Amino acid sequence: MNILVTGGTGYIGSHTVVELINAGHNVEILDNLFNSKIEVLDIIEELTGVKPKFHQVDLLDRPAMEKVFEGSNFDAVIHFAGLKAVGESVEQPLKYYDNNVAGTVNLLNAMQNHGVKKIVFSSSATVYGDPGVVSYTEDLPTGQNIPSPYGKTKYMIEEILKDVAFADPEFSVTLLRYFNPVGAHRSGKLGENPNGRPNNLMPIVMKVATGEIEKLSIYGNDYDTKDGTCIRDYIHVVDLAKGHLAAIDHIKNGVSIYNLGSGKGTSVLEMVAAFEKASGRPLPYVFAERRAGDLPEFFANPKKAADELGWKTELTIDDAMADTLRYLDGLSA
Ligand code: NAD
Ligand code: UFG
Repeated sequence: MNILVTGGTGYIGSHTVVELINAGHNVEILDNLFNSKIEVLDIIEELTGVKPKFHQVDLLDRPAMEKVFEGSNFDAVIHFAGLKAVGESVEQPLKYYDNNVAGTVNLLNAMQNHGVKKIVFSSSATVYGDPGVVSYTEDLPTGQNIPSPYGKTKYMIEEILKDVAFADPEFSVTLLRYFNPVGAHRSGKLGENPNGRPNNLMPIVMKVATGEIEKLSIYGNDYDTKDGTCIRDYIHVVDLAKGHLAAIDHIKNGVSIYNLGSGKGTSVLEMVAAFEKASGRPLPYVFAERRAGDLPEFFANPKKAADELGWKTELTIDDAMADTLRYLDGLSA
């Protein structure tokens, strides 16, 4: 297929582009480089032998978006582009509604104007809010008690996509609800290196390992969990990337929804221990106050993706840590 990947120079997007090209798809990337670097294109070429066509375009720039579609013949769009800093979204909600929601509406208008009717969207487990269970299935209600404007943008975009699919029976939407992506490409050449101060666990762990941040603050050690710290479903980014390949291969008219997670919960302390084991060095940390909005525990029930997409995770937390360390070595070389 000819696939436009928005956000394709970003962390999850770049890994997905590699898998798509390796599977024989023809990929073009659209990104404004707000949170990624142009050099990623060279790395994709190094890993696949193909340098994808690149459009440095902002989703909010409607005329430029139209031009991208005018010159191409896309069969489908995989839509990663968006802002994702949960804390920042609480402080600057309009920035998030504008970039993520209005940006997606622009994308959908351009798709509609050019007869492109297939989209795979990067959603998040945060759309489930606080559902009162720890193992999430796709049929749980969404939209209630979502703790941040960022999370609400994901819910709103899901609803917009459902409406578009309802209005046009030939439209195909796949909503992929990610759990916690971690790790890097096995080559150590692609990984997560966000511009600015990170807020997710693994990018912070990486900066503690390099000494850029003195210590990891573990948010809360008095939760009702096996060791008192929060439990999440960490998924290797290459497994996640392959989930997109499976989604594109199985895309069908209407709306399909899949959790992409491993089905296993891992605590923050277990993540620290796995990093220490892989690096052979202690990782300095302190226990700090709970972070507002954090749930004690949740993980995916990934059965639907296994049954319908034939996809499940293959890589482990130890793989993720080893790959992250290879990527870190490359960054400091
Ligand atoms: P990322 O920041 O590495 O990648 C996003 C890319 O989108 C960046 O390259 C950025 O420059 C680009 N972008 C942002 N706004 C844009 C705009 N207006 N126009 C054009 N490009 C724009 O993030 P990621 O971790 O790869 O996440 C990809 C998607 O997955 C996002 O939509 C994110 O919300 C979603 N997601 C991520 C996680 C996670 O923990 N990483 C979890 C659930 C969902
Ligand atoms: N954590 C720390 N210290 C830190 C950073 C994180 O202890 O410095 C802990 C958090 O409290 C949490 C765990 O590490 O228990 C994971 O935190 P992240 O910020 O990495 O991830 P979240 O689970 O909070 O959020 C992720 C994605 C969001 C998504 C959400 C729900 O980043 O995009 O999952 O799916 F919305």
